[in-house]
Amino acid sequence: MPQTVNVELGERSYNIIIDENFCRLGEEVVKVIKPAKITVISDSNIAPLYMDEVKKQFEDLSIETHSYIFKAGEESKSLSQLEEIYNFLFSVKADRKSALVALGGGVTGDLAGYAAASYMRGIPFIQVPTSILAMVDSSIGGKTAVNHPKGKNTIGAFHQPSLVYANLSTLKTLPKEEFACGMAEVIKHGIIKEPCYFSFVRQKTTEIKTLEYQTLSRVVEGSCKIKSAVVSEDERESGVRAILNFGHTLAHALESLTNYKGYRHGEAVGVGMVAACYLGEELLSFDNEDTKKIIETIQSYNLPATFSKFSNEEIIESMMGDKKTEYGTIRFVVPKKIGKVEILAVDNLSAIKNAIDRCRA
Ligand code: GLY
Repeated sequence: MPQTVNVELGERSYNIIIDENFCRLGEEVVKVIKPAKITVISDSNIAPLYMDEVKKQFEDLSIETHSYIFKAGEESKSLSQLEEIYNFLFSVKADRKSALVALGGGVTGDLAGYAAASYMRGIPFIQVPTSILAMVDSSIGGKTAVNHPKGKNTIGAFHQPSLVYANLSTLKTLPKEEFACGMAEVIKHGIIKEPCYFSFVRQKTTEIKTLEYQTLSRVVEGSCKIKSAVVSEDERESGVRAILNFGHTLAHALESLTNYKGYRHGEAVGVGMVAACYLGEELLSFDNEDTKKIIETIQSYNLPATFSKFSNEEIIESMMGDKKTEYGTIRFVVPKKIGKVEILAVDNLSAIKNAIDRCRA
């Protein structure tokens, strides 16, 4: 049986359906919207695997359905690619009664989501995530964006999907490194909110890595519940939603210093979470035994817990340029204990440097 998690946002509320195939996708979509036309947007890796099956769900309901395929990769999260999508939507006469379906990982969700947010001042869209990162994180909460040469995700909007439909069997075709990266966000959810969930993820490494369905479905459901509770409380990140940035302060610096080519996002978040734990030891008496547990868990999912490049000065300068920096002070999400974090503006540079140094291999 599919699991359902609700994202409670008043009139913008929607369900996340966790299922083992695409069979219910069409019927779940028409329960929430009545699209005259659908365009399914996917990338060149995912479309050959699932596009026909997904399109059929809508065609069987006599909905005019189109597909648009773009080149896989972060480079496609661009203004020029966005314009191509608008051109396609005009060519198929998509109007305000049309909907988009984002079939794929985080890049597809962000790009198609922003196309939906902006085309005709906003049309409905459905997230159909096919990576674990997209299932537990990027498809939920309405953040949509493309990149600008001046910065990642800098041109975007909050635009909530009408439905998220996660078919867990698509994870069978996800490359192992990408699966590991999604697990960084899963581990993050446990540390920021739910000690029991963290312990579950820590204990069930084998079942999770081998995609044992019941365990995987509990993991995705658990993470979706944590993320949706946070988003429901603070849709536009004016407060508590920032706890989802746990591990991201150092992560964004490492990604930016390597021009987004040196690390996958989840790998950088792995190291970043360890740095935040060391900072927690110094600033909030976080227990070193818990830091060790977190490092073990990160490594058990084949993610790095250490790094070796860049001086502290380079890293701090990069952190200062990040979106999370406010009034010239670097903001960190720092653990007090597993399940409880605080958002701190840290001006103690020696504490930051010390935490970074402890992550060096
Ligand atoms: N990925 C962080 C957020 O959705 O707020």
